[in-house]
Amino acid sequence: MKRQSQAAEKLTTLIDQEKIAQRVCELGEEITRDYSDKLPLKIIAPLRGSVVFLTDLIRCIDLPLSIDFLEVSSYGNQMQSTGNVKIVKDLRDDIADEHVIIVEDIIDTGLTLNTLMEMLKTRRPASLEISSLLVKPDKHDLAYPIRYSGFHIEDKFVIGYGLDYKGRLRNLPYIAAVENAEDLKEWD
Ligand code: IMP
Ligand code: MG
Repeated sequence: MKRQSQAAEKLTTLIDQEKIAQRVCELGEEITRDYSDKLPLKIIAPLRGSVVFLTDLIRCIDLPLSIDFLEVSSYGNQMQSTGNVKIVKDLRDDIADEHVIIVEDIIDTGLTLNTLMEMLKTRRPASLEISSLLVKPDKHDLAYPIRYSGFHIEDKFVIGYGLDYKGRLRNLPYIAAVENAEDLKEWD
């Protein structure tokens, strides 16, 4: 059977594993400095794209913390944001009086995060900040500042390191850009 890495050769590597690892740990160190007297710390990841980033990031944060997950659906199987954001699965625990960081894989329009921020603010966390591995800078309508951002990228559809096309390619260990929609045919 054809390996995924072979099939992915058509895609353009945008950020390699080494660069990702280095930047993710820089963010972890920054969070460690900023939150040493802001505890308890809770890291929240919207499923599923942020999971790979979360698992690497938390191992670079040298503070006691807990994690929780929620799931929103916005894109469905499309390559573009529909703006129709739904909470599919809520957090397990209360976040009142906790210092919360939402960890996102990518901010495109910002619609997903706007909805999440509004929802989480009503639960009275001690503080609420955003971290995103990737930011598409020209397009976002995000109403909140991004406190910790990994990389600003061009307005291209990207996959790998948690980011998917139709549910797949999340396990590609680097981030690749899709220059031509035809190149994704193998994953249709
Ligand atoms: P937004 O609401 O437009 O900011 O979209 C955010 C969500 O859409 C992310 O959490 C991703 O799940 C998904 N998304 C946005 N851009 C991409 C991309 O280039 N590749 C894969 N998923 C993406
Ligand atoms: Mg997604």
